[in-house]
Amino acid sequence: MAEDRPLNHDEMLAVLDWYRAAGVDVAVGEEPVDRFAQRAPVRTAPPQATAQAMAPAAATAAPQGTPPMIGADPAEARNLAASAKSLQELEAILGQYDGCGLKLRATQLVFADGNPDASIMLIGEAPGAEEDRIGKPFVGKSGQLLDRMLAAIGLDRTKVYIANTVPWRPPGNRTPTPEEMALCLPFLHRQVELVAPKVIMTLGGPAMQTLFDTTSGIIKMRGKWANLTVGRHQAEAVATLHPAYLLRNPAAKEQAWQDMLSLKLKLVELGLVD
Ligand code: URA
Repeated sequence: MAEDRPLNHDEMLAVLDWYRAAGVDVAVGEEPVDRFAQRAPVRTAPPQATAQAMAPAAATAAPQGTPPMIGADPAEARNLAASAKSLQELEAILGQYDGCGLKLRATQLVFADGNPDASIMLIGEAPGAEEDRIGKPFVGKSGQLLDRMLAAIGLDRTKVYIANTVPWRPPGNRTPTPEEMALCLPFLHRQVELVAPKVIMTLGGPAMQTLFDTTSGIIKMRGKWANLTVGRHQAEAVATLHPAYLLRNPAAKEQAWQDMLSLKLKLVELGLVD
């Protein structure tokens, strides 16, 4: 039975730590408010170029007062993504898309970083706390390691384009659910089509499984090149370990190093670097 006494210092820290892990990063009131019960997310008008593609969305728009569209229609996501003629349009469409529940708890959209004209695209899992705060992928500790991994083979963010399988931070940094990834996948596919990289490197298990459409594990799959079809684009693709995993398991850096060397060799082979 719970004791009726004030929490001591250590217990208060443990409670705060639990809140942090659950994704709570700001205190806005004394009592919790169930905002899901209050209103449906507002659907704003689409940009001009997407008006036609939004037609199916009108049919699925939630009436006032219903819960948000968690488990929303993947066909809507596909139509919206397909309507984007440029990365700027795609970012604007995603900014207005309310179909993925992750958006409700994220601070902002984390669309991409790096060079949209690059021939190399890196795809991670999902934004973390720092990425959510700043609005760019891989800017926290794992991003710093990623920068060092790139530098080791002569690359930096002017030579690569970086995105994630989902562009909003999952609360408490949990792995995005298969439903969340499925809803965001058409947008990622379109992003890949628009960047049209010659080479793709996925970072970590969830990104590898999503892009390679497999249930195999990252340890088995990493380092193996494949000609991958992403949307209507084809690229040479390889998976490596996630920098966050490498921070927790430094011994695995050796395998990641082999993958980076293999990436470098592939770039040389394709004439993309000297
Ligand atoms: N981990 C990811 O997979 N993506 C980010 O943007 C940051 C950390």
